Amino acid sequence: MEAVVLAAGKSTRMKSETSKIFHHICGKPVIFYVLEAVKEYKTHIVVNRRDIDSVKKMFKNSDVHIQEEPNGTGGGLKAALGFIKSEYFVVVNGDTPLIRQEDIKQAEETFKYKDLDCLVMTSYLENPYGYGRIIKNKDGVKIIEEKDADDETKKIKEINSGIYIFNTDFAKENIIKIMNNNKSREYYLTDLVQFSEKTDTLIIDKENVMGINTRAQLYEARKMMQMRIIENFDSVTFISPESTHVNYGVEIGKDSVIFPNVHLRNKTRIGKSCIVDTGSVICDSIIRDNVHIEPYCVIEASLIDSNSQIGPFAHLRPQSDIKENVKIGNFVEVKKSTLSKGTKASHLSYIGDAELGEDVNVGCGTITCNYDGYKKNKTIIGDRVFIGSDTQLVAPVTVEHDSLIAAGTTVTKYVEPYSLVLSRVPQVNKEGWVKKYREIMEKKCKSKKD
Ligand code: UD1
Ligand code: CA
Repeated sequence: MEAVVLAAGKSTRMKSETSKIFHHICGKPVIFYVLEAVKEYKTHIVVNRRDIDSVKKMFKNSDVHIQEEPNGTGGGLKAALGFIKSEYFVVVNGDTPLIRQEDIKQAEETFKYKDLDCLVMTSYLENPYGYGRIIKNKDGVKIIEEKDADDETKKIKEINSGIYIFNTDFAKENIIKIMNNNKSREYYLTDLVQFSEKTDTLIIDKENVMGINTRAQLYEARKMMQMRIIENFDSVTFISPESTHVNYGVEIGKDSVIFPNVHLRNKTRIGKSCIVDTGSVICDSIIRDNVHIEPYCVIEASLIDSNSQIGPFAHLRPQSDIKENVKIGNFVEVKKSTLSKGTKASHLSYIGDAELGEDVNVGCGTITCNYDGYKKNKTIIGDRVFIGSDTQLVAPVTVEHDSLIAAGTTVTKYVEPYSLVLSRVPQVNKEGWVKKYREIMEKKCKSKKD
């Protein structure tokens, strides 16, 4: 069997500059899921001129055909039909992302077993509005579109899913019979069905047939897809699945716990026994085992090794390489930096373009001054360096291992191992100074008033 995916429509009801097949559900375009369901077969995607380059780039394993004029799903099939070589083929509307591989498999088996020319996959919907209705009589099966249906037909609850299997010769012989004498002035693929004498329907789960025409349907489909993805993680605890966003393809290890309002995006991988607390957004990152991400962290394209603790309110920007047992606390921003084993940056710091050794203590308010207005410069900190609070490290600069930087220091020069670094103005205390000052000021104010 080969597969044809129809994706050349105008997407009018989506009210978007972007075709509906490219709108995202759980991190992937709608059409991606359709192609997943037919990935066992050679696939032909029918697209319009505007989308052809993007589709070709995204789906290199499919043949892509152009439908010059969006004159209906019948016209869509026509654009691919000449290229079909298998005895029969499945057609799937490109806007039905919830369809499952098993459904298509079952349809193929039924089609073969019953030796059909046409099999229509249908479903029963409580609210069938917008879908083509299935009419069965002694001549076979006929599909009437919502727009062309009379009141009686509109009451029918069995709908066309937009997924069909056709015998190739039958389709090639009969496609020319499709006319556009309907309300939309379109060539309906659904009209092909009535020309077959060996037709049957296969009822599939209503959860799997939803077509996406509008934003509301996109939202509904996203919710359903999200639940499917989450239900697949049967060794992970989701405190509130309905508020959690986990993209397609994300991995999460056993006994990890995901709190409400967490977003796990793109190619994120979470290890075993991790906690990702409320409101954290993790994108394209690898988190090893037993890591605790406290609430409201943003982590992008970074690596966090086992037993580390991040947040709350930490921001790891791309290429942050956090080794084992590291602690990154409140309001710490890290960018393109390595923090080696056991290092701590517990409060209010900016660490950019830096390499920190093992067991470094980064005091509160430490800043790597990595940008000179022209380029980014590196800060290198050796093992066991103690950086006192409110330190500025003016890069490029190196502080060798076991040094101690006193609080309030601005480091601008190379520091040898085991050094104390101090750059403060010596402290001066003037006893009784405030008393005298007040006396003088109060006298002055009084004479002004007089
Ligand atoms: C279609 C069916 C309807 C079915 C429903 C299921 C027809 C005439 N109607 O209606 O019976 O219940 O799907 O979801 O087929 N497309 C093209 N070229 C075109 C027009 C559309 O390739 O000229 C593509 C679209 O991009 C889309 C798919 O075909 O992916 C279906 O088109 P759409 O306009 O969404 O059809 P529906 O009105 O939903
Ligand atoms: Ca549709």
